[in-house]
Amino acid sequence: MKILVTGSSGFLGGALCGFLEGKGHVLARLTSKNCDLTKDGSLEAFSSERYDVIYHLAAWTQAGDFCLRHPGEQWVINQRINTNVLAWWVDHQPQAKLVFMGTSCAYAPGNDLVESKYMDGEPIASLYTYAMTKRMLYQGARALNAQYGLRYLCAVPSTLYGPGYHTDGRQMHFIFDLIRKIIRGKELGEPVVLWGDGHQRREVILVDDFVRALYRLTETVDNDIFNIGAGEEFPIRTFARMICEAVSYPTERIEYDTSRYVGATSKCLSVAKIKLALPEYSVTPLAEGLRHTIAWFYDSKAYLL
Ligand SMILES: NC(=O)c1ccc[n+]([C@@H]2O[C@H](COP(=O)([O-])OP(=O)(O)OC[C@H]3O[C@@H](n4cnc5c(N)ncnc54)[C@H](OP(=O)(O)O)[C@@H]3O)[C@@H](O)[C@H]2O)c1
Repeated sequence: MKILVTGSSGFLGGALCGFLEGKGHVLARLTSKNCDLTKDGSLEAFSSERYDVIYHLAAWTQAGDFCLRHPGEQWVINQRINTNVLAWWVDHQPQAKLVFMGTSCAYAPGNDLVESKYMDGEPIASLYTYAMTKRMLYQGARALNAQYGLRYLCAVPSTLYGPGYHTDGRQMHFIFDLIRKIIRGKELGEPVVLWGDGHQRREVILVDDFVRALYRLTETVDNDIFNIGAGEEFPIRTFARMICEAVSYPTERIEYDTSRYVGATSKCLSVAKIKLALPEYSVTPLAEGLRHTIAWFYDSKAYLL
């Protein structure tokens, strides 16, 4: 198949493109360098080809407290990116299925994280703008489906982890930050100080597990929304203990800074729907995924950043 991927240079994009090429698909890999999606007409250069699937992964965001500090820019930039892609899809690629990423932050605190509640209630204040741009993208796809019959799939990932994460100095998602700090504690003797009290709970999914599930859903489901997660969350202290064991660092040396921003106290996606759609759905055990990720940190020297 001919497949166009926006955000192909990102963490997820790298893993997805590798997987798709391994299956023999022909890819157009878009990044902000060869197609700045904030610019009108940037996709025109790709209009002469007919794509079977468009994976739209591009987004302007970062981990940590980035969303809290850049809500205005996030609104304008992500709305431009998403509107540009939606308009090009309907005008030039109506035969293609659009597969795009949602966010678990779109779920309102207090609601169950089930797909039917994705648009219900108010997202957490610190991630409100980012969450609403993702909800708008979902609504845009639903609107184009309703009016023109275009086909889409919205995938809502929990936090992705695994080898191949960025090494350009941007803030890291919590699981990478945790591994980096603990390896630095072990290798460089630095104090290991984690944000919050360590009791906040998080769910992660190995990027390769996510890509496999996304591909299967793309093959089998139209016009729907699916959470793709592990279905199980752990306190930060548990992640820290497992990483300490894997790198041989004493857990009791970890300090907790309760004055720092930690976001939601708990976030675990329901995976009931994906398990119904894909009976074979399963994820790599956390200890194994962490071992792969830690090995990548050492190989790439990412812990030195
Ligand atoms: N990582 C997670 O845990 C996670 C969780 C939930 C949802 N998601 C969603 O999954 C998607 C991929 O995430 P990721 O972690 O792979 O993100 P990432 O590593 O930050 O990659 C972002 C991608 O978007 C591209 N991009 C940014 N601005 C652009 C622009 N103006 N024009 C064209 N491309 C632009 C970047 O291109 P350049 O490299 O050229 O800048 C890059 O390829 C995003 O939609 C994200 O919201 C991710």
